[in-house]
Amino acid sequence: MSGEWNQERRNTKDIGDQRIVGTKTLPDIGKRRDVAWVLRMSERLTITIDGPAGSGKSTVARRVAAMLGYLYLDSGAMYRAVALKALERGIPLEDDAKLEALARETHIELRAPTAEQDAAGLKNRVFLDGREVTEEIRTGDVAQAASQLATVSGVRAVLVAEQQRAGQGGGVVMEGRDIGTVVFPNAELKIFLEASPEVRAQRRWKEHQEKGEQLTLLEVLQEVRERDKRDRERKVSPLVRAKDAVLVDNTAMGIEETARLIVFLAKEKVPA
Ligand code: CDP
Ligand code: CDP
Repeated sequence: MSGEWNQERRNTKDIGDQRIVGTKTLPDIGKRRDVAWVLRMSERLTITIDGPAGSGKSTVARRVAAMLGYLYLDSGAMYRAVALKALERGIPLEDDAKLEALARETHIELRAPTAEQDAAGLKNRVFLDGREVTEEIRTGDVAQAASQLATVSGVRAVLVAEQQRAGQGGGVVMEGRDIGTVVFPNAELKIFLEASPEVRAQRRWKEHQEKGEQLTLLEVLQEVRERDKRDRERKVSPLVRAKDAVLVDNTAMGIEETARLIVFLAKEKVPA
């Protein structure tokens, strides 16, 4: 596995040691009067967000990263990309050795969306061996295949090593299932993001509707439940709340509210 993680943090790095990212990106909580705080945030924490499907990880993580000028990394996109490749090549999802070999020879790139795509709600652009697969990896079939492939320990080892490489040095918000437990067990701030299965399915269903995909709410709920079960019950790196993770249930919370809460918790981790 090789990869490129060419996102916002690179831009903030360019500013040099000052890294005054907040004057532009912290309109709600930062503003100029808080520049000292923003400078302190350049301590570059590692923030992990784990949780089940549809709990809001990608949307919230992306927003938190933007607020802090951190790098946003979607580990699920990596599992999805390898799963898409396996489906395209007709590799059986039970063939652990072939799947591990496939993961090893794969190149994944996560790129920040353009300003226009960002405004349209796109969180990540994903490139598989140089080909853009941003849309293709978001289908239900790929999600199911990803969760099957994610039970293979050899595949996980390859992807985890790549995630650790991508997030080294901190200043990163990484989301997935095992980020706080396995990938970055020493992260300064760990969040376990939850929402009721019904609300999570409703959120996903709305996304399918917007894309013109004719799935019923019940079908989506079943897909989400099946995947959650597999993710929670697998032997390797199951979806579980790390002992030191803060449980955030955002069933009745909006994206902005959830993101601000996490930024607030991050602020508490930085010495005054
Ligand atoms: O990454 P994950 O599967 O955990 O969820 P997501 O893709 O970030 O969020 C699923 C959908 O729920 C997106 O369309 C979000 O905009 C929406 N969402 C929401 O409406 N309210 C929240 N508090 C969090 C997410
Ligand atoms: O967006 P959603 O929450 O639906 O899924 P995702 O984060 O894109 O992840 C797709 C699948 O990859 C999950 O159902 C997990 O089986 C697997 N995954 C994992 O095992 N470990 C991670 N760190 C991230 C994803």
